[in-house]
Amino acid sequence: MKYNFDDPICRRGTNCVKWDERPEEDIIPLWVADMDFRVAPAIQQAIERRAAQGVFGYTHVPEAYYDAIVSWFNRRHQWTIKREDILYTIGVVPAVSCALKAMTLPGEKVLVLSPIYNCFFSSIRNNGCEILESPLVEDKGWKVDWADFELKCADEKTTVFLLCNPHNPGGRLWKREELERMNDICMKYGVRVISDEIHCELVMPGYRFQPFAAISEACRDNCVVCNSPSKSFNIAGLQTANIICHNAILRRRINRAININEVCDLNPFGPEALIAAYNESEDWIDELCQYIKGNFDVLCTFFAERLPQLKVMPLEGTYLVWVDIRALGISSDELTERLYQEAKVWVSSGTIYSPTAGEGFIRINMACPRAMLMEGLERIGKLNFKLQTSNFKIK
Ligand SMILES: Cc1ncc(COP(=O)(O)O)c(C=O)c1O
Repeated sequence: MKYNFDDPICRRGTNCVKWDERPEEDIIPLWVADMDFRVAPAIQQAIERRAAQGVFGYTHVPEAYYDAIVSWFNRRHQWTIKREDILYTIGVVPAVSCALKAMTLPGEKVLVLSPIYNCFFSSIRNNGCEILESPLVEDKGWKVDWADFELKCADEKTTVFLLCNPHNPGGRLWKREELERMNDICMKYGVRVISDEIHCELVMPGYRFQPFAAISEACRDNCVVCNSPSKSFNIAGLQTANIICHNAILRRRINRAININEVCDLNPFGPEALIAAYNESEDWIDELCQYIKGNFDVLCTFFAERLPQLKVMPLEGTYLVWVDIRALGISSDELTERLYQEAKVWVSSGTIYSPTAGEGFIRINMACPRAMLMEGLERIGKLNFKLQTSNFKIK
């Protein structure tokens, strides 16, 4: 390995959400989707070069920014993007929100496959729309309930399907055939697709990410993609994201929404980091994915040997592990709180991602040095011992 992901980094006391939001000492934070790894060297150098100038006025986004995006998606994902298809903004959540604003009217319904990334709920509500959940079904991993999906698309108030690919939480990388089927059903009922592809570089060995817009002319024309190198290259704090929309009429409306929402100016560091990530850090991301797979193997072995009653769901993409805790007979919120209070491990309760479809699950972020993950798992293992012997109430 060229890069050292085992290196511990002290982030506590650096105004970091993951470590400082609840500043108790000795908590191992395995919650928010943020990695405890130093960025690729090319990104670090680009930021240092920019910082050394010492002037941080308004930022012009250069041609090199668009070239880096076009080239990356073309060579890595065989997706042809034109410069004019790209609109930049300050984050993927703001991107999704602008797309929703441009593509819905208040009172309309937005379909999601649940459990789903929690900010989807707020973005839909903030745009005056109603959330329509189509719960995923479990069949050796998550699958779409096609009959339910079609029924919800057929609802005359449904105008947008908000997809997450790879899926957070649950770790699915949707296959080409599944995506095509989603689009066919959507188009049958005049439903447009917004595809949040922020996790697209975080792919486990043996799997492939399929960009929604690269499937067919029909998909290309019916969708809007929201993307950023932020999640994969650990630069979310630099607040830079892109909306890629091949449909010129839709793109015009989204551009207007970006301006109405006043999220159209990037900071001086974001474009530098994006260019360094896409042009110079491909070997880093490949090694990172291997390291995450190593962490996943450690985690699976741990649960199989020490907590076999908890079931780890298969992971195809992302670094967010979805664990089925239903055998414990306690709620996700209760277990999460006990893990925090007693094991001193901070994980996310499944109910954040849908009060119904997420109940009975927890989400564990394993993007950290292996030793830290193992320490967290050890602590969880000890709590389990107490769970069986203490007066912990099974509902
Ligand atoms: C699916 C998904 N979209 C968007 C985001 C956040 O994007 P941003 O920080 O660029 O707004 C996350 C963060 O975890 C995510 O999982």
